[in-house]
Parts: sequence; structure tokens; C-alpha cells
Amino acid sequence: MGSETGQDQVSRAKQLFECGECGASTPKWTGRCPHCEAWNSLSASTPAPRRGGARAGRRAAGTAEIVSARDVAFEEETRIEIGIGELDRVLGGGLVPGSVVLLGGDPGIGKSTLLLQALGALSRRSVRALYVTGEESLRQVTMRAQRTEVGSDALDLLAETHLETILRLIARHRPPVLVIDSIQTVFTEGLDSAPGAVGQVRECAAQLVRFAKTTGTALLLVGHVTKEGSLAGPRVLEHMVDTVMYFESEASSRFRVIRATKNRFGAVNELGMFAMTDHGLRPVANPSAILLSRGPEPVPGSTVMVTREGTRPLLVEVQALLDDSSLGNPRRVTLGLDQNRLVMLLAVLHRHGGVSTHDQDVFVNVVGGVRVSETGADLATLAAVCSSLRSRPLPRDLVVFGEVGLAGEVRPVGGGEERLREAAKHGFRRAVVPRANVPRKPMAEIDAAGVATLAEALEHFRAEQSEEGGNRQ
Ligand code: TYD
Ligand code: MG
Repeated sequence: MGSETGQDQVSRAKQLFECGECGASTPKWTGRCPHCEAWNSLSASTPAPRRGGARAGRRAAGTAEIVSARDVAFEEETRIEIGIGELDRVLGGGLVPGSVVLLGGDPGIGKSTLLLQALGALSRRSVRALYVTGEESLRQVTMRAQRTEVGSDALDLLAETHLETILRLIARHRPPVLVIDSIQTVFTEGLDSAPGAVGQVRECAAQLVRFAKTTGTALLLVGHVTKEGSLAGPRVLEHMVDTVMYFESEASSRFRVIRATKNRFGAVNELGMFAMTDHGLRPVANPSAILLSRGPEPVPGSTVMVTREGTRPLLVEVQALLDDSSLGNPRRVTLGLDQNRLVMLLAVLHRHGGVSTHDQDVFVNVVGGVRVSETGADLATLAAVCSSLRSRPLPRDLVVFGEVGLAGEVRPVGGGEERLREAAKHGFRRAVVPRANVPRKPMAEIDAAGVATLAEALEHFRAEQSEEGGNRQ
């Protein structure tokens, strides 16, 4: 709260209005939040209490004394490994004691299930953990624990939403790992607002974070996602915690992808893949194999790319469909890719590749519900677009990756050789990649053709297409 200048002013209780979507506050009520432009989201909020309030949260890691960095004692990388490989990797190798992880995602996607299973795995390694539930009754949680074969005897549970009570109990109990499901249900009596209001969420999170930092408890917070797709009070929560993980797939798909979007203790964009089964979430050890389950016949508009989200290369199929448009402003629709990026790529394709799509609706989809955020997908997207436009399939054993620049150049991406190795492992024999990504020593299993410009790449695709077309005759 920027206008909070001193304790006196605070006690005069200057009225502020807080946005329920982004958490920003303004001194004047308006119909629309001046920060995030959400309509009708402002409501009156009372400033935080003087003692132990938001201010205390700011000193979460404080010692009130200046020390030399040399003298700060720390133990080398003591991580608590959970024992679920996909989750440990997204966390950067396990939980760091005293760290705070925020897990976000749509309702019903599997947040509670995942964390319950994580605690089950921990208890099998004799790490005692406490699960605080504010949404489900103890009965529901134990039923779920049984269903997911967590083993309820090794699990400590607490059904409570009153922050002060939770803090009192955990101060005595001192669990090495603590889960709060969810932060939006917890409330403090220090504030008048209802549970779930941004002020409450921030205040409760701040106090729990302080507890984690001072006691070394690894804290996992479950956070709800609002209909706009951001965590309620996103700015505040994301800044307070060390790691932010999101479930990013659709609840309708069987597969669940979790991604770290912020991680003070590991790589961001690291993906973990799970499948939802009758017995909870099962890690998917070889996601490339599942994402690539295609039919036997090559189809136009489909390209396989090797993306590297985080540290692991992953093979995914990009599909494009082009169709004559009756609209003055043809549609550009993407699922799993950035739409603006597609618009830009189509412009580059026109200017530097001589392929026009101005009278076509263009739909691009990444199969399997994965979101690809890296630019290495550019070249594969354009290959799929050209293949659909000409109704000619690309060969099934071809992979493509590379970034495409505005000048029509094809730029190298990180981890080229590693990507090629992953492709070879899954039976791909040909690749079109940025020239700088071609390995110096040719790889026996896969033949990588290097290209420096989009025009060159299109030549390759055309050759591959006609070859395939010829084979099919
Ligand atoms: P849940 O973990 O409750 O989601 P969240 O906490 O993110 O709201 O997940 C509930 C969904 O998962 C629900 O739709 C049922 C499904 N599910 C299974 O399919 N199998 C299982 O073994 C479990 C426990 C849940
Ligand atoms: Mg839940």
C-alpha cells in the first residue's frame, strides 16, 4: 500500500479500495480498476493492522542485524526429495527447507490429489508432513488418500481455516513439510474482510511465509485461479513465494502438465507430466511417446517438433489447418501457442517465403494439451502451415525446430544436439534445423539438414513433400 506513510495515518484508517482481481489499491472508488482494468472489482478495504500485520510479512526473512555474507551459515543443497520424479524435477530437485511453493490451477484439475500423493510419498521416506485442509472434510481427505493408495496412517491432517489456530498448532507440531489447501480459505481475525479477499490472502500468506522462513518448514500453498486465468491476488502471492507452479492442461484431458513459472531454486518452464487415473495421478515417464501417438498414415498439416521446455527436450506434434476464409479479417486461432507469434510468423512467411495466407483461416494446435512457450516452435509451425496449405503431408520421420526472425532468418535455439538425440531415440531419421544447430560430428541415427533462412527451409519442406507424395502414389 503505497499511501501508507506512517502509523498515525494508518490509525486514522484512511479508506482504500482494493481490486479483487489484481490486488492493487486506490484511494478512490471507480467502476473499473485503474491497474488491471477489471470491471466492478474494487471494494473497500481497511488498512492492515499495526502489529504483526502486512509489515511483519515484509520482514519474513529478517534478522535485524547486518552480517557479512561470508558468515551466513547454510547447508549445501539440503533438499527434501519427494519421491515423485516428475514433481521433484519441476521443483528443481525436491523441496528446499524453508521455501514456499505456490501451486495454482483450475478447480478439479488435481491440485489436492497431487499434494496428497506427494505427502504420501514423503511419509514413505519417513518425512512427516502436515496437510491443512480448508475445503474438504477430514473424511473426504482420508477417502481420497485411500483411493490414491497414500496410506492414511502416515499422514497428519488438520481441518482448519483460522490462521491464528493453524499458526499456534504448527508452532508446536513443527512439521518439516506443510501443505495449506487452499490459501483462499484461510482467514485471519486481524482483518475484517471475508476469506478469499485479496487482503486476507496476502496477510495469511505473509504470516505463513514468515513461519516457513523462520522455522525451515517447506511450505506448499494451493492457490485458486480466477476465471481470467490468474491466481487471485496474483501479484502479491507470486512475489512472496519462491516457486510458482501451475497446472496448465485442460481438466477434460486425461493428461496433466505442471510447469514452474518462477523458481528461485531451479529452472523455470520445467514441465512435469501426469495422467489422471482411478487411483490418482500417475507420473508419465516418457511424455514424448504419448504426445506422439499418431495414426499410421502421414497427414497434411502435421509436423513434429522438438521443444525444450525447462531442461528436458520433448517431442510434440503441431497441427495446422488452413481453410478458405469468407471473412474480411481471416481468423488466426492457436491452442497451446502464442497467437501473436503466429500472426507474426504468417507475415514473415508471406514477405520472405512468398507464401500468402491472407485469404485463409489459420488454426494451429499443439497436440496433447501442452503449452509451448519457446520460439523454437516457429519453424515447425510454418512447416505445418505450408503442408496444410498444399495438402501435402510431410514425412513421418521428419522433425523440425528453430526460431524464425522478422528478417526471414532461421536462428539457432538452445540444446540443439540434445533435441536431435531425443528425436533419434523416438525413431526420427531426418531433421530440418537451424544451421548453427547442426552437430559438428554428424549423428549416425539422424540426418540433420541445416538452414539459415526461411526460404531455404521451405525448399527443404517442398522437396520432402514431393518425395512423400511420390511414395504414396
Ligand atoms: P482435485 O485434486 O480435487 O482437484 P483440485 O484440488 O485441483 O480442485 O481433483 C479432483 C478431480 O480429479 C476430480 O475431477 C476427480 C479426479 N480424480 C480422479 O479421476 N481419480 C482419483 O483418484 C482422484 C483422487 C481424483
Ligand atoms: Mg482441491
